[in-house]
Amino acid sequence: MLKFNCKNAASFLSDGELEALQAQLKIADCALHDGTNLGADFLGWVNLPTEYDKAELQKIKECAARLRREVDCLVVIGIGGSYLGARAVHSAFAQSLTGQIKNSPEIIYAGFQLSGDYMNELLAYLKDKRFAINVISKSGTTTEPAVSFRILRSLLEKQVGSEKAKSLIFATTDAHKGALKKFATEKGYQTFVVPDNVGGRFTVLTAVGLFPLAVSGVNVEELLAGAGQMQKICAETKDLSNPAWKYAALRNSLYRQGKAIEILVNYDLRLNYLSEWWKQLYGESEGKFKRGIFPAAVSNTTDLHSMGQFIQEGSRNLFETVLWINNSNSVCLIPDDPQNIDGLNFLSNKNLQEVNHNAMLGTSLAHADGGVPNSLITLDKISENELGQLLYFFEYACGLSGYLNAVNPFNQPGVEHYKQNMYALIGKPGFEKQKEILEARLNK
Ligand code: PA5
Repeated sequence: MLKFNCKNAASFLSDGELEALQAQLKIADCALHDGTNLGADFLGWVNLPTEYDKAELQKIKECAARLRREVDCLVVIGIGGSYLGARAVHSAFAQSLTGQIKNSPEIIYAGFQLSGDYMNELLAYLKDKRFAINVISKSGTTTEPAVSFRILRSLLEKQVGSEKAKSLIFATTDAHKGALKKFATEKGYQTFVVPDNVGGRFTVLTAVGLFPLAVSGVNVEELLAGAGQMQKICAETKDLSNPAWKYAALRNSLYRQGKAIEILVNYDLRLNYLSEWWKQLYGESEGKFKRGIFPAAVSNTTDLHSMGQFIQEGSRNLFETVLWINNSNSVCLIPDDPQNIDGLNFLSNKNLQEVNHNAMLGTSLAHADGGVPNSLITLDKISENELGQLLYFFEYACGLSGYLNAVNPFNQPGVEHYKQNMYALIGKPGFEKQKEILEARLNK
C-alpha cells in the first residue's frame, strides 16, 4: 500500500503548521466532491476508478487482445495528457534497456513533438513492421498529433491498403464533437471516448491510458482497482491521515515559506515518465496568476552527479518528494573478489538494490541537512495495483493543492498563447494579420 512520510521535512515546519491547513483542506476536499469551486465541469476523474464505463472497458480489452495477436507495434499518437499517462505506466513495467514489455507488442509514441528527423526515423522503423495506430486527442484539433496522424496513416494505408488500415486505426477522442471524431466516423474507425468531464492530464484511467496499456499487456482492471483503493481512502478520510491531504498540506506549507520548486526524485529510471506525467499534472494545474510550485524531476543516483551539487548547496527554494519502491523485481548480488584490488569486498554478496536504498536514505538526510526538506512516498513494488494508487494519490492531491492556492486546477488557458503564434507562422487560415505582426517582429 502507498505510504507517505514527511519526517525529513519536520524540522522545516512550525508546530501545528500542517494542522493549520486542515480547515482549508476540508473546503477544497468538499469542492472536489460537490463541485462548488472553479473547474467543477472537470471533476469526472474523482469517481472514475469505480464509475468508469464498463462496456467501453470490455471493448478496449477485446480490441487490445486482437492487436496483441495481429501486430508488432502500436503507435500511440498524442501529446500532453493524451500520451503521458500511458507512457508513464507502460515505462514502469518495461525493461529499462529496451523500453518495452517483454513478449508484448512494442508501444511507440508519436505526435508529442514536431521533429522531422524523429518522424523519418519512425517511418523507416515501421516500414517492415505490422503496426496499428491509436490516435488520441480530446479536442481533435491539436497540431502535433493531427500532423503525425496524417503522416503515419499514409504509411499504414500504403503498407496494408486503406480497407485493412481501417481495422488497425483506433481514435480516442470526444464522444460527439471535434475534427478527429468527424474523421473517424467518416472513415469507420473504432473510437474510444475521452469523457467530457475529464481534462487531458487527468485521463490516464480513461481509454486514453487504458487502451494502449491493455495492448502492452498491463492489467488495466488491476490498475483501476488500485486507483479505487486510493479513491476510497480519499472519499472517507478527511484529515491528515489521508496521504493525499498530508502531501497537499506539506507542499503548500513549504511553498508559503518560499520553497517554490518541487523536485520529484526517483531511484529507478523506469519511473522517469511517471515524473514527466507528474510534471504536467502539477505544472499545468497550478501554474497560474503568476503563482505556483514549479515541478522538476531528477532520477538518482544518476542526477546526483549532475544536479546533486545544486540541490545540496544552491538556491534554497527547493523541496523534494522522493518516490521509492520497496521491493525490486530481482536480486543482483555483487560478487566477491578474493584479490579485492578495487576495495569493494565490504559489498560482497550484497544486493545492488540495498546499495541503492542506502544511497536514497543518505541523500535524503544530506539534502535535509543542506536546507532541502523532503518527503517520501513508498510503494511496495511496481504492480498495477500500487501504480493505480499512486496515480490517484497524485491526482487527488493536485486537485486539493490547486484549490488551496486559489487557482482553477482544471484549465490551461496559457497553453493557447504558443498555439496562436505557431498557427500564424505556419500559415493557418484566419491568422493572416497575426502572421504579419509576428513576422515584422521576427525580422526587426
Ligand atoms: O491536460 C491537458 O488538457 C492538455 O495537456 C492536453 O492533454 C493536450 O494539450 C492535448 O490535447 P488534446 O487531447 O486535445 O489533443
